[in-house]
Amino acid sequence: MTARGRFIVLEGGDGAGKGSAIASLAAGLQDDGYDVLTTREPGGTPEGLQLRALLLAAEGEVWDRGAELLLMTAARLQHVRRVIEPALVAGMVVLCDRFVGSSLAYQGGGRGIPADLILDLHRRFVGDFWPDLTVLLDIDPAVGLARSRRRLSGDGVDEGRFEELGHNFHDRVRRSFLDQAGQHASRTVVIDASRPIDVVQQDVIGQVRTRLAQFGEVDGEG
Ligand code: TYD
Repeated sequence: MTARGRFIVLEGGDGAGKGSAIASLAAGLQDDGYDVLTTREPGGTPEGLQLRALLLAAEGEVWDRGAELLLMTAARLQHVRRVIEPALVAGMVVLCDRFVGSSLAYQGGGRGIPADLILDLHRRFVGDFWPDLTVLLDIDPAVGLARSRRRLSGDGVDEGRFEELGHNFHDRVRRSFLDQAGQHASRTVVIDASRPIDVVQQDVIGQVRTRLAQFGEVDGEG
């Protein structure tokens, strides 16, 4: 399948500000004239949302890590086939909050499943399907936790899960994201998400605009 659109994924630890960065990025790209679809994982389809509810309602490590990986992958497969690929074929810019990089970071780095196994599962079921560009919002987990606490006060579900997993877990998640960024440097931008939110948003929009323009030049040459 030849995709004409562009698949852009935002990744990062909890509390990095992905939600607001994606919203402002979507608005900015729409202003530029792009046809934009914003979506997220786990979720993105009705089935994925049900899996999301099952996965995120459980605090800490209730799920066996393998079961967690399989459910995340199942939700991703539905999401890619039913939502992301059709949007790319229609020429849209798809902005996705988390993708397989989160499985590598959380089920891999965080919970110790070998990266090879996660990547093999992805290749076998989802296929040779990867982001055109990944924007990593990097933040010290302690700072992200403080932000999440403020944001989630009154909503104990995600907060409980976050707290339960502990700081070592989130340090390993961050390390995995940074390692992935190093391995795929040409299609990743790393953003310092510890700065004020409006600065982060402007940086994200600026970097993505530059990359989209470069994609366009490459297309033009072909
Ligand atoms: P969410 O509330 O979306 O977190 P955030 O707003 O920080 O993105 O919760 C998603 C959680 O699911 C988050 O803790 C990361 C986790 N997750 C995985 O463990 N593996 C995955 O493959 C994905 C997509 C998410």
